[in-house]
Amino acid sequence: MKLIGTGSALPHRQVTNDEISQFLDTSDAWICPRTGIHSRHVISDEQLEDLGAEAARKALEMAGLTPADIDFFICSNVVNEYMTPGLSCIIAHKMGLVCPMIDINCACPGFIYAMDIAETYFQAGKVSNVLIVCAEEPSRMTSWEDRSTCVLFGDGAGAAVFTKGDKLKATKLNAEPSPDKICEYRRLMPTPFVTKEEHDSPLLMKGREVFRFAVTTSVRDIRELVEKSGLTLDDVNWFMIHQANLRIVDAIREGLGVEQGRFPTNIADHGNSSSASCPILLDECNRKGMFKPGDILVFSAFGAGLLSAAAVLEW
Ligand code: UT7
Repeated sequence: MKLIGTGSALPHRQVTNDEISQFLDTSDAWICPRTGIHSRHVISDEQLEDLGAEAARKALEMAGLTPADIDFFICSNVVNEYMTPGLSCIIAHKMGLVCPMIDINCACPGFIYAMDIAETYFQAGKVSNVLIVCAEEPSRMTSWEDRSTCVLFGDGAGAAVFTKGDKLKATKLNAEPSPDKICEYRRLMPTPFVTKEEHDSPLLMKGREVFRFAVTTSVRDIRELVEKSGLTLDDVNWFMIHQANLRIVDAIREGLGVEQGRFPTNIADHGNSSSASCPILLDECNRKGMFKPGDILVFSAFGAGLLSAAAVLEW
C-alpha cells in the first residue's frame, strides 16, 4: 500500500507544566528535563469522536477522496466514553462512512499495528482504500492526583489514508505480555454471580521498566526491520519515534548510533498521545513539507501490553 493523505486534530485547551504545578506537587523543573514536555493538549469541551472525524476529514481531503471511496476503516483507541459500539462506528457516523470497520486496542503502537493489518487486507486483494484513525484521550485514564503519570500524557487524533501501492516496505510486531507494567482496571456491572475480587483504578505504570522496554525493543525492532528491508540506517531519512518521552527518543538514537537531525519530535507541546502520537507527528511533518518522494521513514512505537512495533515506509 502507499500513503496518500494525513490529518490530525488537537483539543484547543493547552495545559502547561506550571499550570499543573498549581494543584499538584510537581514543577516544570522536574517534568521538562525528565520528559521534554512543556505542555500538552487536553480535552475539555470537545468529544474525542469529533477530533477523530476532523483528523479523518483532513486526511481524506489531502488524498482527494470522499468517505464513499473508503472500503475499510481501522480505528485505534485505548479509552473512550463508549463501551459499545466501537469508536470506529461513532466516528464513522459523524462522517457518513459506511464501509466495514474494526477497532483495535494496541496502545501506543496502534498506528503501526493498524498499518500492518491494512497491508494484509491490501495483499489479500480485499480493499482499494483504507482509512486509519488513531484517537486517544489518555488524560481521562490517569489520576490527576498522580504526578508520576498525569504529567506525561496529552490528547489528540491522527489519521492516514492508504491506497494500493508498494511503499510500505516492511512491518514488525512484537509482544512481551506483562500487564503489571502499564494497566488500568475498569469495574464492570455487578452480577448476582461474581464472587471474585475486582479492581477499579486509574492508570498504573512502572515507569522505569517501561522506559527500559521502550529503548531496548525500539533499537532492536528498527535494526532488524531496516536490515530486513535491504537498507542500512544511513538510508533512513526520518525516524518517526512514538513521542513518549524525549529521553526515550534520545536513548534510541544513541542506541542506534545515529546523529541528531533525523528524529522529528513534537513532544514539547503534545506529551504522549498514545497511538495518536505517530500519525499526529507524521501529519505535522508532512504539512511542513519535510518529506520528499523516495524518502525512507521508519516508525517505531512501544507501550502497554507490553507491545512494540516498527514499520518502514517509502514516501
Ligand atoms: O508509551 C509508553 C508510556 N510510558 C512511558 O513513556 C513511561 C516511561 N518512563 C518514563 O518516562 C520515566 O520513567 C518517568 C518520566 C515516568 C519517570 O522518570 P524517572 O527518572 O524514572 O523518575 P522516578 O519514577 O524514578 O521518580 C523519581 C522521583 C520519585 O521520588 P523519590 O521516590 O525519589 O522521592 C518520584 O516520586 O521523582 C518523583 N516524581 C516526581 N516529582 C515531581 C515522579 N513524578 C514526579 C513529578 N513531579 N511529576
